[in-house]
Amino acid sequence: MQLPNVIAIDGPAGVGKSTLGALLAERIGYLYFDTGVMYRALTLVALRLRLNLNDGETLEVLAKQVKITVDPPKIADGRQYTVIADGSDVTWAIRDPQVERNVSLVARYPEVRREMIRQQRAIGERGRVVMVGRDIGTVVMPKAELKIFLEASLEERARRRASERRTSSAESDLPQVRHDLARRDNLDQHVLRPAHDALILNTDDMTIADELDWIMDHLARRP
Ligand code: DC
Repeated sequence: MQLPNVIAIDGPAGVGKSTLGALLAERIGYLYFDTGVMYRALTLVALRLRLNLNDGETLEVLAKQVKITVDPPKIADGRQYTVIADGSDVTWAIRDPQVERNVSLVARYPEVRREMIRQQRAIGERGRVVMVGRDIGTVVMPKAELKIFLEASLEERARRRASERRTSSAESDLPQVRHDLARRDNLDQHVLRPAHDALILNTDDMTIADELDWIMDHLARRP
C-alpha cells in the first residue's frame, strides 16, 4: 500500500483527534505530531513568566525565543510524547486547567501563529507523519496527500471528554465540560474549517476502532 507522506487530521476540541492520530501513526509506523501542544507549551511559559496574554507583541517575541520540542516518549507514564519547553519537561503541565482556559487566547494572534506554523511545517516536511490540529489541512500542510476533518456534535464531544476525566472529579461535570467546549469552539472558530479537499468524517455514531478501520480502508483503496 502506497501511503501518503503526510496525513492531516483536523477538527474541534474533544472530537478525538489525538486518540485517533496516535493510533493511526502507531499502526502505520509514522511519527505522531499533535500541533496543539506547541500552543499549549507557549501558553504555559507565558503564564509562568506572568506575561500579559493580551499583549500580542510580547507573545510573538516569546514564540520566537522559546524552544519547544515534541519527541517520542521515553518515560512510560501514559504519555503519547514528551514536550520540552526551554529544557524542562512540560508534558503534563500543558494539560493544566489554567493552560486549557488561556490557550485559545494565545493562539489567536496571527504573529504567534506564524511562528508556530513555521516550526510545525518544518517537522511536517520531514514526512511520514500524522499531524493533528485545527489548520493542518488548510494552512500548515495544504499539500498533505490525505486530509481528514473530524466532526461530532457538542453533546457527544462533551460526553467523551467527561468520561475521559471520570477520575478527576472537578473537571468531570458534564454541563461544565460542555460549557468549556462551547467556549473553545467559539474562540477556535477563526481557524477551524475543513480544507476543500478534506474527507469529512462525522464520528457521532462511531467508536475509535470504527474510525481507524475507516481510515485504513480508505488507505487500502487509494489508487
Ligand atoms: O488540540 P488542543 O486542545 O491541544 O489545542 C490547544 C489550542 O491550540 C486550541 O485552543 C486551538 C489551538 N490550536 C490551533 O489554533 N491550531 C492548531 N493547529 C492546533 C491547536
